[in-house]
Amino acid sequence: MSNPKRYLITAALPYANGLKHVGHLAGAYLPADIYVRYLKAQKRDVVFVCGSDEHGTAIPIQATKEGTTARDIIDKYHPIMAQNFQDLGIAFDIYHRTSDPLHHATAQEFFTRLNDNGDLEIKETEQYFDEEANSFLADRYIKGTCPNCSYPGAYGDQCENCGKSLSPDELINPVSTLSGKAPVKKQTRHWYLPLNRHEDFLREWILKEHANDWRSTVVGQCKSWIDGGLQPRAVTRDLDWGVSLPETVEGGKGKVLYVWFDAPIGYISATKQWALDNGKDWRPYWEDKDTKLVHFIGKDNIVFHCIIFPVMLKLHGNILPDNVPANEFLNLEGDKMSTSRNWKLEMQDYIDDFINKENGGSQMADVLRYYLTQIAPETKDSEFTWKGFQDANNSELVSIFGNFVNRALVLMHKLCKGKVPPLHPNALTDLDTSTLAEFSVTKEKVEALLEQYKFRDALFEVINLARIGNQYMQKKEPWILAKQTGEDGQPLTDAQQSIDNTLHICLQLCANLAVLINPFLPFTARKICYLLKVVDKMLDWENAGKTKLLSVGYSLRAPELLFRKIEDAEISYQLEKLQSAAIKRESLVGSSESAITNTEKIMEENTPGTLPVKPTIVFDDFAKIDLRVGKIIAAEKVEKADKLLKLTVDLGFETRTIVSGIALHFTPEEIVGKQITVVVNLAPRKMRGIESNGMILMAEDAAGKLHFINPEEGIDNGSSIS
Ligand code: MF3
Ligand code: ZN
Repeated sequence: MSNPKRYLITAALPYANGLKHVGHLAGAYLPADIYVRYLKAQKRDVVFVCGSDEHGTAIPIQATKEGTTARDIIDKYHPIMAQNFQDLGIAFDIYHRTSDPLHHATAQEFFTRLNDNGDLEIKETEQYFDEEANSFLADRYIKGTCPNCSYPGAYGDQCENCGKSLSPDELINPVSTLSGKAPVKKQTRHWYLPLNRHEDFLREWILKEHANDWRSTVVGQCKSWIDGGLQPRAVTRDLDWGVSLPETVEGGKGKVLYVWFDAPIGYISATKQWALDNGKDWRPYWEDKDTKLVHFIGKDNIVFHCIIFPVMLKLHGNILPDNVPANEFLNLEGDKMSTSRNWKLEMQDYIDDFINKENGGSQMADVLRYYLTQIAPETKDSEFTWKGFQDANNSELVSIFGNFVNRALVLMHKLCKGKVPPLHPNALTDLDTSTLAEFSVTKEKVEALLEQYKFRDALFEVINLARIGNQYMQKKEPWILAKQTGEDGQPLTDAQQSIDNTLHICLQLCANLAVLINPFLPFTARKICYLLKVVDKMLDWENAGKTKLLSVGYSLRAPELLFRKIEDAEISYQLEKLQSAAIKRESLVGSSESAITNTEKIMEENTPGTLPVKPTIVFDDFAKIDLRVGKIIAAEKVEKADKLLKLTVDLGFETRTIVSGIALHFTPEEIVGKQITVVVNLAPRKMRGIESNGMILMAEDAAGKLHFINPEEGIDNGSSIS
């Protein structure tokens, strides 16, 4: 769509059931933010909406895990997620939430219109019901044996062991996770969106109209969905958490909208709330054909944003997305990112370790934005490695970009009296002219790439301009020219003219870098403005490519480094942290609260005694773990944490404090004096303000009871186990 009147940009609403990791950031939020910042720098009319997805079974399931209510879960995670985005410079115009009454009303109106128009089908079906809990069972609430791999803990919607998606009917020996009993089949009524009625429209719209401007990965997924045969999709559920069916709907009592029906409508509710807050009209953004709607998502959301929601929008009389630039997945250090396996980098962790630390600051938000854009999984899965992160920072941001800006400022202060030197047209060399020409060439390239959602390539061009700047400065060597002095000790006129031209061009190039980098690294762009003593207005996109952004004779600030070097120690710390979190997850009783939740998860997922054998490791993996005999010499309860005991453990060579999640199984008195097995080289972790330095190994029997791994009597504390 060329020259739309306005833009409505959405980023997938994240589930408010836990902290989000950098894979989510790279998948949807960061590219959306870059695009929006670019549009806003162009003074376009654009609204950027997002918010928490607070319905679906993910929320009550997390509540069970945390021993609290669904309401508490969303109230806990919604504000943290909003703050995480803000800390990383993701500047939504509104970060809304689907628990808001405005959203409930909006979703209900949407459903009612489709239902009244006869666009939905009603079907009576049989569904699993838990008689003891008196409740129909959502797919996630049913467990059984996977028909594909025989894993005993498969869910009604998916087997997490082999990855196959399932329906509850396929499970062998299904049980309800609510009561642990076998469920029965019971009649129920549901509303369906008959996607099959819209096959022609979808074929025409996606496979013809958008065959070339949408990413091939996106078109490909849609095609296989459509070719696989479109079926009516149930859009209601028997659940007590979600948007209730409107009261006017007959037989709708006790039912809620399916989360994937209500969540995308959240984009509309968010726009309405934004309009209310800003005295604007939301309607044109969703109804006027001159609006360009773009959904930024990860690939697991493609079918919902390209097939189901568009059908809903069409039926409801709204505009359709112009593009859905879905990203593939981001892996981490050679493995899939996963919350349940604790193999991840959460935004919160990055913020704690790099931004909120003394030597961090917002500049470190830009470093993450840089690396994630550089490795963005736009066409295929890509991989985050800590080494790659360090390299991107040290050899590109520090050595190329930051170095160029710094040198330009340092030399200007040294050789041009701290002011922007004049340009002497008669002294311009070919190199000067061709370097100046690069400004607008880069601008054109970056613009074209951003318009095509090619953020990685666009960023490359910006850094390339800094690279060109460095090479230019290196060739012109103003510091050498400065040594060609006359009898008065001042540089010769010719030499000074060349110095002036060089630094004039370098400084104008710095100003251009600020404008061009702004969508990607907004904190850095503002820092450059500060150094150049210009207002942020200079970042308007119309200034990109201009060669006279800074006025001659203007005095600039003393240089300050834009980026700091990232040390090897910081990287090895992160790698260790990642490994030890994953080890904790794998062990039965972890030494942290999150590991306790994981323990419970393992217990919940598996019938005791049937834990599948973990993947093979090599001896070196095992040898990294330092196991020792220790003796519990003191134990006490941890205040306000009913699962935790604070243990004092004698390891022979030293005495340590270890916090262990065994309080529900043992009293402090009964374990004092016991010899145990301890992992002594786990990174320390603070729990309830107490630093835990190690982990106690436990065995779990078929009844779920925990046992210490005791060495034979009388062995010395500190003895090594291997
Ligand atoms: N909560 C979903 C997820 O994390 C995304 C919802 S996007 C929306 O996968 F469009 F439905 F809002
Ligand atoms: Zn399976």
